[in-house]
Amino acid sequence: MDGGGTSRPLTVAAAMLVCFSNLFSCVLGHIGEQPLSKIAIHKATPALHDSASISASPVIIGLKGEDTEWVSVELEYPHPSSDDWVGVFSPAKFNGSSCPENKRDEAPFICSAPIKYKYANHSSPDYAKTGKASLKFQLINQRADISFALFAGGLSNPKLVAVSNSIIFSNPKAPLYPRLAQGKAWDEMTVTWTSGYDI
Ligand SMILES: *[C@@H]1O[C@H](CO)[C@@H](O)[C@H](O)[C@H]1NC(C)=O
Ligand SMILES: *[C@@H]1O[C@H](CO)[C@@H](O)[C@H](O)[C@H]1NC(C)=O
Repeated sequence: MDGGGTSRPLTVAAAMLVCFSNLFSCVLGHIGEQPLSKIAIHKATPALHDSASISASPVIIGLKGEDTEWVSVELEYPHPSSDDWVGVFSPAKFNGSSCPENKRDEAPFICSAPIKYKYANHSSPDYAKTGKASLKFQLINQRADISFALFAGGLSNPKLVAVSNSIIFSNPKAPLYPRLAQGKAWDEMTVTWTSGYDI
């Protein structure tokens, strides 16, 4: 009993989660069709750009005990393209330093998957010309800090251009939605489950 076993417990757990929430049908095959699965995060490469910036506010959310809140993200990038996108990461530290210790040498640059993303042009149709965009993300309490990252290169060949400040829910002990822990290896999938949320 060894080798190749990592996906089985995850699959079972995911099936339980999917069935748990009756918002969705109990069809595991659909996991592969989630928009998030289009992101080749394991291929991401660093391309931090001095004059690119991304910032998120407010820094502390859920001050009145809310478990979901809208966050504004402002970004600027001097070499914009219509396939630039913004990923939401939680915990906020998501680069190589979050990779499992024993895998760090061979690990990709980024070891955690974004919990949500939007194209930079989502609400700023001129982004590809101006390089300026504003986005809004509805977040649920993740019990960990959250950061936003701007990627160029589209979803299939992401290049990390800029990382935002971290933000955090002020009530980290508030009721949580079902959530699977992050896999131990970079190639295990993270399943985050929330309700009333459009992924
Ligand atoms: C925004 O980006 C997407 C993805 O690249 C693209 O399909 C869409 O046409 C763009 N919209 C505008 C207004 O440029
Ligand atoms: C990851 O990011 C932190 C700051 O958030 C930085 O100090 C560290 O050097 C980065 N690690 C890698 C491997 O890029």
